[in-house]
Amino acid sequence: MHSPLILITETPDNFNAVFELNKIAFGQANEAMLVDALRRNSNVFIPELSIVALYKDAIVGHILFTKVWITDHQGNKYQSLSLAPMAVLPAYQNQGIGGQLINKGLSVAAALGHKSVIVLGHEHYYPKFGFKPANIWHIKAPFDVPSKNFMAIELVTNGLAQINGTVFYPPEFDAV
Ligand SMILES: CC(C)(COP(=O)(O)OP(=O)(O)OC[C@H]1O[C@@H](n2cnc3c(N)ncnc32)[C@H](O)[C@@H]1OP(=O)(O)O)[C@@H](O)C(=O)NCCC(=O)NCCS
Repeated sequence: MHSPLILITETPDNFNAVFELNKIAFGQANEAMLVDALRRNSNVFIPELSIVALYKDAIVGHILFTKVWITDHQGNKYQSLSLAPMAVLPAYQNQGIGGQLINKGLSVAAALGHKSVIVLGHEHYYPKFGFKPANIWHIKAPFDVPSKNFMAIELVTNGLAQINGTVFYPPEFDAV
């Protein structure tokens, strides 16, 4: 890949391409519809954290981070971010684009002042970027999932210190 890959916040004229990209990468429209639905939820959507990868002016990858809340037994709520979904066009996979999108997203999130990110995903992939099993912090998923696949990362030192509980996703995720 000799042309530079550009990682940049999406703009409204990217929305259709992002939809098609997610549909192709996942082989179904659920995640594409999830992205559209999350964009409409101003309680969770952060425009700067819907990032596209452009190669020769075409969108070849996308990643989205939206707000979630970790709620503990005392009812305290702590805002975090969920990394989901992310997608790279099949022809461009395994060339590091997904990794670049993750690193870019984590750095933008940190610059915006966010303290942590949660991800449900492959246990060999996300640790490359610093994610660790969320149960290290006694943070649980709201659904049954192997603990090795439910991970978190601190964007600042002690970003999850003193925080534990269950992660609550916005209702848009229920449809996926
Ligand atoms: C997951 C995805 C975005 C990774 O993009 P990518 O540009 O290929 O990522 P990279 O090139 O940085 O890394 C590829 C590596 O991730 C691994 N990987 C990532 N997610 C994986 C998953 N869900 N299952 C299996 N392997 C996965 C690949 O096997 C490969 O491993 P390696 O680095 O040890 O060789 C891409 O494969 C994709 O769009 N998949 C379909 C949609 C999807 O499952 N998204 C993730 C869930 S939200």
